Amino acid sequence: MALQDHFKPRPSDLILVTPPKSGTTWLKALLFAIMNRTKYTFAQHPLLTRNPHECVPFLEILFRDQISDLEAIPPPRLLATHLPYSILPTSVADCGCRLVYLCRDPKDVVVSLWHFARKDRPDMGLSEAFELFCDGVSLSGPIWDHILEYWRESLRRSEKVLFLKYEEMMAEPVGNVRRLAEFVGRPFSEEEEKDGVVEEIVQLCRFEKLSSMEVNKKGAYELGGLTLPRESFFRKGKVGDWANHMSREMGEKLDRIVQEKMAGSGLSF
Ligand code: A3P
Repeated sequence: MALQDHFKPRPSDLILVTPPKSGTTWLKALLFAIMNRTKYTFAQHPLLTRNPHECVPFLEILFRDQISDLEAIPPPRLLATHLPYSILPTSVADCGCRLVYLCRDPKDVVVSLWHFARKDRPDMGLSEAFELFCDGVSLSGPIWDHILEYWRESLRRSEKVLFLKYEEMMAEPVGNVRRLAEFVGRPFSEEEEKDGVVEEIVQLCRFEKLSSMEVNKKGAYELGGLTLPRESFFRKGKVGDWANHMSREMGEKLDRIVQEKMAGSGLSF
């Protein structure tokens, strides 16, 4: 409510949106690197010493305990949120700022979420977390609603809402980094292509690279009133890890629910 009342989006804002545990940390790192590529060298990049969440703040946290003044941030402001589209202030769509949406196979999301939540709720088994997830009890509401709302918006306003899947980003990171840069209006020049800047960004933001940095391994990070071990944002970073934790029946059940919810949308996982 505070965000709806007080956030004043600008047309130049870039808002990164994800359901929790769908690759937020990766997307933040990639877009921070893309947007700031002429400011820093790769040898002395802020992402080598700062967690991606310290580089791109969550809107809901900026307005959680206080009314943050974002006016001083120079454009283009890079912001993130887990909020469903229907809860975003309508001024976000009205002002025409760009949104980048990243989602992921819900089976991998629930497994990732369960591992993450276990640090606080060691008593919760995967089957309990799974049933809650299948009932739509999730941090940002039912995941199918979250995904479908942004999917529809991306079809309606493709020049303003880019819809991406984690699996496609993993399969083709270089092509997708080019796509991101074009979408945000900062395409790579011929010179940059020749110098391998796209590949440098991909390498800098790879799971193996980020997760091996001291800043992402040691200590804790305050996020929205929670004290989280920095390493908790990096677990495996693999597609299909759900199969190592869930039974085939569980996988089929969640697939069925998601397929039913997404029927007719043109979207599938
Ligand atoms: P797993 O738990 O499946 O390993 P979020 O950033 O939205 O919280 O999502 C966390 C998930 O993204 C975790 O998935 C984490 O390991 C993975 N992840 C973090 N950094 C990544 C990166 N640079 N590339 C790919 N996946 C990454």
